[in-house]
Amino acid sequence: MDAIRAGLGLIVLVFLSSTLSTAHPGFYFDWGGIGGNGGLYSTLFPEFYQYSCPQLDDIVMSVLEKAIQREPRMAASLVRLHFHDCFAQGCDASVLLDDGAGIVSEKRSNPNRNSLRGFEVIDEIKARLEEACPQTVSCADILALAARGSSVLSGGPNWDLPLGRRDSKTASLSSSNNNIPPPNSTLQNLKTFFGRQGLDEVDLVALSGSHTIGLARCVSFKQRLYNQNGNNQPDEALERNYYFSLTSICPKSGGDNNLSPLDFASPAKFDNTYFKLLLSGKGLLNSDQVLLTGSGGKTTDLVKIYAADEGLFFNQFEKSMVKMGNINPLTGYNGEIRKNCRRVN
Ligand code: HEM
Repeated sequence: MDAIRAGLGLIVLVFLSSTLSTAHPGFYFDWGGIGGNGGLYSTLFPEFYQYSCPQLDDIVMSVLEKAIQREPRMAASLVRLHFHDCFAQGCDASVLLDDGAGIVSEKRSNPNRNSLRGFEVIDEIKARLEEACPQTVSCADILALAARGSSVLSGGPNWDLPLGRRDSKTASLSSSNNNIPPPNSTLQNLKTFFGRQGLDEVDLVALSGSHTIGLARCVSFKQRLYNQNGNNQPDEALERNYYFSLTSICPKSGGDNNLSPLDFASPAKFDNTYFKLLLSGKGLLNSDQVLLTGSGGKTTDLVKIYAADEGLFFNQFEKSMVKMGNINPLTGYNGEIRKNCRRVN
């Protein structure tokens, strides 16, 4: 009797394993080895939606192309959105949730308020995907795909993107406030913030290279112009002419929302000019310039290397984006596939 029951159990298990693996390419049964998760484990991989949503790439890219054509800055905003998602509670689309039952939106956090953008583009991608492949593609994966597509469409690198993240049912305002580094960070702070996420100095420098595109508000760099060290003096690291041009955009009082490019030489082109500008004292944020000037690390050398060789920067950027995209994803039976990225199902 026991033997029959065991035999039946095995058949059911094999059946379940094969159905789940085909229907849900993210699932694999772990026959008692490493992997934990109650014998079920799953990892991200690029072909995750190969069968369940073959149109995925085309849909994402066609929405992005239009959005970035309308407004080139959108590429930068979408790259940043993925970063702010991953650093708060992992890459789980928590950043996209609006205030609602039990949800205090991360959109209100200090790093995000009046600053984070691109939500409507994510909504548009999601709406198109819900038509083509309903309840299949997670908002967290859409953020990762939008970041990669934005790099490509701005002339930056392309990479194999592991997929299969699921969406959170929660958001964390405190995680967003506490884990995303502020622009006046010292090098040591930056290393600590990145270290907490399992990212090292190489990732820090390469990912900061995203500041080759996009804009920042005056309030994000004002301290450097007027009171860097509490002595009413500008940051000595700022090149003189650059300093004067910034003061005209960003006055001592008011103008907090005035915008300046992070890489004024080529603000819409993903290239290595950001690093070249750092070498001549023309980094916009304190967190940018300290990668060169901060002591006690190898970031100075990395800035010089990436300034000299765009290929090396691109190569490392690809690796570091994949690494960032792997921060605490929800997989398997955890989380859900939201129908609308702004609220839980
Ligand atoms: C190293 C620590 C970092 C700090 C302190 C930092 C800080 C900032 C700040 C203050 C802004 C301007 C926001 C505003 O004024 O409204 C900004 C913009 C931006 N950040 Fe970062 N950032 C960091 C790392 C990253 C990373 C890792 C990425 C992506 C992988 C990224 C991508 C961007 C992009 C693309 C923009 C321009 C966004 C736009 O134009 O809408 N940043 N960042």
